[in-house]
Amino acid sequence: MDFQELLTWADQQVLAHTGKPLDDLQKSILRGTWEREKYSDIANSYHCTEVHVKKVASRLWKTLSHSLDDGEQIKKSNLRAMFDRWRVSNLSVFSRHIGHIGNVSVCGNTSQPSALPKQEQTNSSPSPNNSKPHIDHSEAPDLEYCCDRSQELATLKNLLLEKRTRLIAISGMSGIGKTAIALELLSEIEDKFDYIIWRSFRSAPTLETTLKSLIQFFSNTPQNGKNQKQEEQLSLLIEYLRNNRCLIILDDLHQILEKEKLVGHYQSGYENYRNLFQTIAELSHKSCLIFNSWELPLEIVDLKNKNAPISCLKLENLGKTANKILEKEGLLDKEKWSELIHIYGGNPHWLKIAATGIKDLFEGRVGEYLQYKPLFLGEELTIILEQHLSRLSELEKQILLQISSQKEPVSISWFRENSERSDSDIFKAVRSLRKRSLLEKIEDQSSTLFAVKPIFQEYLLEQNFST
Ligand SMILES: Nc1ncnc2c1ncn2[C@@H]1O[C@H](COP(=O)(O)OP(=O)(O)OP(=O)(O)O)[C@@H](O)[C@H]1O
Ligand SMILES: [Mg+2]
Repeated sequence: MDFQELLTWADQQVLAHTGKPLDDLQKSILRGTWEREKYSDIANSYHCTEVHVKKVASRLWKTLSHSLDDGEQIKKSNLRAMFDRWRVSNLSVFSRHIGHIGNVSVCGNTSQPSALPKQEQTNSSPSPNNSKPHIDHSEAPDLEYCCDRSQELATLKNLLLEKRTRLIAISGMSGIGKTAIALELLSEIEDKFDYIIWRSFRSAPTLETTLKSLIQFFSNTPQNGKNQKQEEQLSLLIEYLRNNRCLIILDDLHQILEKEKLVGHYQSGYENYRNLFQTIAELSHKSCLIFNSWELPLEIVDLKNKNAPISCLKLENLGKTANKILEKEGLLDKEKWSELIHIYGGNPHWLKIAATGIKDLFEGRVGEYLQYKPLFLGEELTIILEQHLSRLSELEKQILLQISSQKEPVSISWFRENSERSDSDIFKAVRSLRKRSLLEKIEDQSSTLFAVKPIFQEYLLEQNFST
């Protein structure tokens, strides 16, 4: 028995169970465990925390335990022994390196995951009694997740498992970690569901396409030639959600929302998604739909006001925990990190972009970088910020520019004195900008003040300088 055999086997099991091959950290955990290293040593060599390694390892042992027929649990302490036992009892299969493991056919060549089914399906009629969940992760990305979001995760788990919420909206700026937290959530709760499906909205699928793909997954029957009416598709979907505990994750929902309008309107041709969300929120069933989006469709807030079992979680600044990213990136001047995190809104993706620039230009010296005003944001981040700004209506753009031209935060009454816009326009624009996370709210003693988020303030300053 050698480590390569274990790695091949583990890769096949994880691929069969999750649709994805082992990632680098999982491989490091296996190697470290094989070499009898402590979790703390594995964490040190992987440059992440011991807590994170333990979490990932615990999920890995759980996944690998699925392949044992006798219900025994794999742990760090018994990995070698359990694998050896499995190997001996499956020797004929294993030695040919091709065959049937668990209930999924696998090939020996782990470098060709496409030869394996991305989607684990065992029967055509959904049954809540099957012990293993049916999972389709094929459209989910692989992301790093090292900064703690345990509070938000606990909230999501509580909504999903205790409160049985039917619709959960995770919103926040690009790069704040919506996809990452949804993936982390999935890995912790997947055994609580019969069916789990992840769909990306990058290509802005129509409602018809989405419903077809969901029904195909739940029924395990191709839907290509079928032309069902939308109401029929919706009622079929609800049947599946009633009879089984299903989890649907729709990532990047903002792709179907309209640009250059106030927040929350659908693009033309996508308005019927309202029916999907309304149906899922209002009809009784035992499943949940989670979506990630930069902004929320208008009816979500309305459904919430009507006491439907739906919930919205807005992801915010990572705060101090973002230090871990800067540490991993090897930045210097620790005393300046909180300022950098504040300017970049505690956004993990944007901080990674900043770190790369600071290393290129200043060998990692954060203090030196912060001295140059307006800050140099770099092409990559500029494109992202422009994507956010390009979604604004003309009214929002004007109000945003007016606020950013002031050194201090401004109140609504300041607008009344300094703007020709009607009260109603000002209220509409400020609310919309808040929902898009572009404005910060500051409670003063007697009034509420608004300021443009620091990174957008820097961007607008940079633009003024360059024009
Ligand atoms: N808790 C975290 N710790 C460390 N890195 C994180 C964390 N959350 C997200 N990231 C990293 O930040 C980047 C952006 O995360 P993610 O893709 O989840 O953002 P998003 O909110 O889904 O963005 P978008 O709206 O553009 O899809 C990724 O590289 C991810 O690995
Ligand atoms: Mg995302």
